[in-house]
Formats: sequence, C-alpha cells, structure tokens
Amino acid sequence: MVENFYNYPLKSLNTIGFDVSARRFIKAYATQEILQLRYDKDFACGKRLVMGGGSNLLFTADFDGCILQPLLQNIDIESSTSEHVRLRVGAGVVWDELVRSSVERGWYGLENLSLIPGTVGASPVQNIGAYGAEAKDAIESVEYVDLDDFAVKRLSNEQCRFGYRGSIFKQELKGKVVITQVTFCLSKRPRYNISYGSLREMVKQLGGENLCNVRQAIAATRRSKLPDPADLGNAGSFFKNPFVEKSLAEELLKKHPAMPSFASGSGVKIPAGWLIEQCGLKGARRGSVGVHPKQALVLVNYGGGTGCDVLTLANEICQAVNDKFGVKLEMEVNVV
Ligand code: EPU
Repeated sequence: MVENFYNYPLKSLNTIGFDVSARRFIKAYATQEILQLRYDKDFACGKRLVMGGGSNLLFTADFDGCILQPLLQNIDIESSTSEHVRLRVGAGVVWDELVRSSVERGWYGLENLSLIPGTVGASPVQNIGAYGAEAKDAIESVEYVDLDDFAVKRLSNEQCRFGYRGSIFKQELKGKVVITQVTFCLSKRPRYNISYGSLREMVKQLGGENLCNVRQAIAATRRSKLPDPADLGNAGSFFKNPFVEKSLAEELLKKHPAMPSFASGSGVKIPAGWLIEQCGLKGARRGSVGVHPKQALVLVNYGGGTGCDVLTLANEICQAVNDKFGVKLEMEVNVV
C-alpha cells in the first residue's frame, strides 16, 4: 500500500539539510503501487518529483506538488555462473547497502563506489562515479514506469546512453519516469581497479588485494576529503568537472603549469575543485553556507542556510572561475 503524507518535512530527506516541505509525499513499495498512481489525478497530472535519497538535490523552496519516493527493497539473484552474478535490485535499496553486501559475498564491480550516498534507483540517473569506476560499468539494464502511459519499460545499458555524470534519465526522460529496478552484472573473478591516487599503496598497507581492503581504502580516501552528510550538510560534488577544448587547455597550461588536466575524447577534463581553489574560494563562507575547506567542489550548509544562499554562492563561484580561466562550470546537483 502506498503511504501518503501531507505538508511533509524534507529536512532529513535532503543531505544538504534544508528545512523545506512537500505538499504531498508518497512512499511506494512495489511497482504495482506506482502503476496505480495513474488513477490519482493529483499525481498523474500535477507537479511531481521522484526522489531517492535526496543526496543530489537542492531545494530552493517548499515543493508545491507530489514527491514520490520508490522504496522497493529487493536484492534478487537473477542468475549466477562461475564467472558472474546478475542482481536485480529495487530502486529503494540504499546504494552502500548493495555495495557492502556485494563485497561481503565476494562479488567484484561496485567496491570503488563504496559510501556514495543515495539509493540504487538514482545510480543510473547521473551514472554515479568515483575513484576510476562508474555505475555504468556494472549496470546491465534499468526498468522503469513511464509516467506518460504508465507502462513498465526496460532499457539496456547501451540504450541508457550513459556518459560522465549523465544518462538518458537526465535528458529526454527527465521527469518522465520512475526507475523501479536496476540489474547489475558483477564478477565472481577477482578484478581490481586501484590505480587511482594512492589506492594501490593503501590496499598494500591494509594487507593486500581483497575486496574488503579495497572498500576500506576507498572509505578512508573519501573520509579524508569529503564531508559526511550526517556531520555537515552537503550534496556531494556541486559542479561537474568541465571539459574544455584542447586549445584552451594548452593556453591555460602555459599560464598555470601546475593545473591538473586529463585528456578525454576530443577534449580535456579539468578538475573544477582545482579551478575553484585557484580563485581563492576553497573554505570561503557566506553566512550559513560555504565551500568545503578540504574539497572545493563541495558546497556545505553549516546550519540554517537555504537553497537560495547556496545558489548565490554557486553563481559567485561560476563568475570567478569564468573571469579567471574563461571556463564555464555546470552544476551537477538537481535544483528544485
Ligand atoms: N583539487 C584541488 N582542490 C580541491 C579539490 C580538488 O586542487 O579543492 C584537485 C586535486 O588535487 C586533484 C583533482 O582536483 O588533482 C581531482 O580531485 P579529486 O580526485 O578529489 O576528484 P574530483 O574531480 O574533485 C571527482 C568526483 C567525485 C569523486 C572523486 C573521486 C565529479 C564531479 N566528482 O571529484 O564525486 O568522489 O572524483 O573519484 O566528477 C560526487 O559526484 O558527488 C563526487 C563526490
């Protein structure tokens, strides 16, 4: 049975911790319940939003519509061979619970994505990624309810058109679907991806290559740089790392030889955190909100801030980076 709530407080449901509310909040525990919402005019025809763990959302005001939270909780083994396991996972499963249980069972593929906040249903939307891995490397298909015709549909990995922090769910299908199930293919054969930074060295110090040690090394790396939303409100990386043309990157490298840069396809990726730090904004504070002192890509809420305060700070950052480097930053979070 779906659960309905009115004037529902969202403070604990957005990791940056803004004190806003939803006119109506719906919790759904099964695909069938979501399908039934086609007969609910308020949801089917009105303003609505689908949310997972609220870790990539920035509310700028109370939400005057329906928020649907899919809470499907299954982790089913769909098939298993000596090489692989195929898991069908409900959208409401907490992402790190899936990673933890996969690591414990000796299944390779998700360990580098340890401790990323949010739910499984959100993982394909922005193709979550960290430490050399992306969700798309393990996702086989995504099942969703199409909110135009309330039919259940499935997209293969290729059809999801995954890219850096993006997918079809952030483009054509934005606001039009409820992801219900994600199917992952994980390896039973050891397969490590520890070339990022000092991961290999950390894993060695923990006693050598195994899944638990990789998870532990990733956790330590995250904790050293990224604030835990339980301690300090934040929505992870606030901006995407920008891709610039090779010619601009070369020009910038002449002026700033220490600039980190990564050739990627026909362009060059530059870390937004570095650009923001060079503008002197790392650790900057504007009232109740600020730029995290250890990772300039993360904007934080020290308590009592609003989404509008964060947007004002984000605009200041974009302006400063554009003025100094001629590079336009794009927000990674979804502004509501
Ligand atoms: N850097 C700085 N100053 C900073 C932050 C970073 O100079 O304040 C430099 C670092 O020295 C390094 C480079 O920027 O040379 C890259 O930094 P880092 O490895 O910390 O990663 P990132 O590019 O800032 C991305 C993801 C993170 C993910 C890390 C690790 C995006 C938008 N962000 O950050 O993802 O955890 O790589 O793989 O791609 C998230 O999406 O919410 C998120 C946290």
